[in-house]
Amino acid sequence: MSQATIESILKEQRTFPPSPEFAAQASISSMDEYRQLYEKAQADPAGFWAELAEQELHWFQKWDQVLDWQPPFAKWFVNGKLNLSYNCLDRHLTTWRKNKAALIWEGEPGDSRTLTYAQLHREVCQMANVYKQLGVKKGDLVGIYMPMIPEAAIAMLACARIGAAHSVIFGGFSAEALKARLLDANAKLVVTADGGFRKDKIVPLKPAVDEALQDDGVPSVDNVLVVRRTEQKIHMEPGRDHWWHDLQAGASKDCPAEPMDSEDLLFILYTSGTTGKPKGVVHTTGGYNLYTHITCKWTFDLKDTDVYWCTADVGWITGHSYIVYGPLSNGATSLMFEGAPRPSNPGCLWDVVEKYGVTIFYTAPTAIRALIKMGEHLPNARDLSSLRILGTVGEPINPEAWMWYHRVIGGGRCPIVDTWWQTETGGFMLTPLPGATATKPGSATFPFPGIIADIVDLEGNPVADNQGGYLVIKHPWPSMMRTVYGDDERFRRTYWEHIAPQDGQSLYFAGDGARRDEDGYFWVMGRVDDVINVSGHRLGTMEVESALVSHPAVAEAAVVGRPDEVKGEDVFAFVTLEGSGDGSEALAEELKAHVVKEIGAIARPSEIRFTDAMPKTRSGKIMRRLLRNLAAGQEVAGDTSTLEDRSVLDKLRGGA
Ligand code: WTA
Repeated sequence: MSQATIESILKEQRTFPPSPEFAAQASISSMDEYRQLYEKAQADPAGFWAELAEQELHWFQKWDQVLDWQPPFAKWFVNGKLNLSYNCLDRHLTTWRKNKAALIWEGEPGDSRTLTYAQLHREVCQMANVYKQLGVKKGDLVGIYMPMIPEAAIAMLACARIGAAHSVIFGGFSAEALKARLLDANAKLVVTADGGFRKDKIVPLKPAVDEALQDDGVPSVDNVLVVRRTEQKIHMEPGRDHWWHDLQAGASKDCPAEPMDSEDLLFILYTSGTTGKPKGVVHTTGGYNLYTHITCKWTFDLKDTDVYWCTADVGWITGHSYIVYGPLSNGATSLMFEGAPRPSNPGCLWDVVEKYGVTIFYTAPTAIRALIKMGEHLPNARDLSSLRILGTVGEPINPEAWMWYHRVIGGGRCPIVDTWWQTETGGFMLTPLPGATATKPGSATFPFPGIIADIVDLEGNPVADNQGGYLVIKHPWPSMMRTVYGDDERFRRTYWEHIAPQDGQSLYFAGDGARRDEDGYFWVMGRVDDVINVSGHRLGTMEVESALVSHPAVAEAAVVGRPDEVKGEDVFAFVTLEGSGDGSEALAEELKAHVVKEIGAIARPSEIRFTDAMPKTRSGKIMRRLLRNLAAGQEVAGDTSTLEDRSVLDKLRGGA
């Protein structure tokens, strides 16, 4: 975050209570009600979650124990049996919701489709039967590499239906990144499409799958299921590749949901951390189902009349929890959008709001800042009166962007829910409840009932009000990640050993810095580790560095985030070359393209600065703090006495 943003957040005093009309119709309609729930959960977490699990979900068999906590390993609803796809689909079919829109899809260019719960159920059953026909069994893993089309959600739900796990890989990742994830997850089947539409362009997807799988690159993959979307000509490998529509035609519409153990693997989602290799975040069935269900219901005050729209991609946790599973488990109408605002159609989001009468709109601060730049006249020219709640996620929102969102999009009447959470947490951790919480622009406000959050120093001691510290969670919650796939030690090390235990209790370390103000509001300040946040996408600086040094010309690379007005941060790379070569503009371009090939366009450095040495401590550690200052064009701040060779700094300051 920029200094200006931090300062404006520190000054932020405005509060926005829900209007009496809003509060009157909300399911949680006052701070007293919130406090009662919070205290009830704190006093008896097992009782609180058990009551909700019983009320809100269908179980084939009840659990024996609510929580088995062997820090840092949790099991929720031990021996309970349920099926997430059953909870998202089947149970609505015996109600009037059978013919309610489950998914509304607004595609490109001008395509659209609505699937009722009955229709979605049918297609999920068919795809599940196709999986079985292709030899996918309970416990196998399916890789999903898709554009934003209904089949992406269908592919996920079909996995959950038969007890196969999924790993969705964002369609913007390169063939290399796809391959690394398919290998790590030991995928048996890949579901993809010929391509997708992205900002007036066709993005090929199947060719990346071919590249990942070539020369038996991922030996565990036997089959590839391909959805026809863009009608591009693609290669179909005989015996391996199958068109979805061909197999769907012969697939039965009957496929009972497999009773799954509450702790059975539901999905792995790869995310960036502080070391080079992305880690597979493991989520299991019962706790995830319950927590995404209840957070979606309360935070968005869901009603049967809502048209709910989350603009994330299904390739990220936000898409998993709050496009697919959370809304559908509640029987809500969830809108999926393939497009994005762009110069040729800058007002497309507001057209969609108007076209479908969207009532709840959930997006990222980076998108809001881009929309501000595009101009108020665009939303002002559309009827946005259907909106009743706005949401934001992905990074701290600067108060100016919050105010614009509130005034221009929300017409001053819509509560804004600023939801702080992570791939690892599965669902919202800090969030306002729209009918109860008086919001402050830039604050994610308070913990969700059942979440015990604190801000501490490295010794685990709570810090005073308005003092910065580390954001931690003190009690396990149902949708917490269970481990890093295949690496329990890494799970322990990354999340549970940074902060000293408090009263013998391990604390979950989120990787974010935060402070709490005198009214108890939480203000998340951003990552305190080597993770950067580019347009709400999480990137490990080490990951980008590994990509750079895999290029033969590069000897050493150090990547930092540089503040950017729209993206939050962008990728800035310092590079030393092999031998005595000086960096040229052409080489910089080549290295940028190399990063795109290794990871994907989201990781493309915006600038590469060549240098013949890095600023290092005497023990050889790169001093990233200095590089961050340099990238931001600031004076180098703080102590530089540990710097080994001070002349390096002068050279770096002068540029390459
Ligand atoms: C950041 C996305 C401030 C934070 C759901 C976190 C936020 C990381 C907020 C997780 C918010 C997310 N305010 N920061 N409302 N929401 N973040 O795993 O740094 O892609 O650790 O999950 O995004 O990113 P992830």
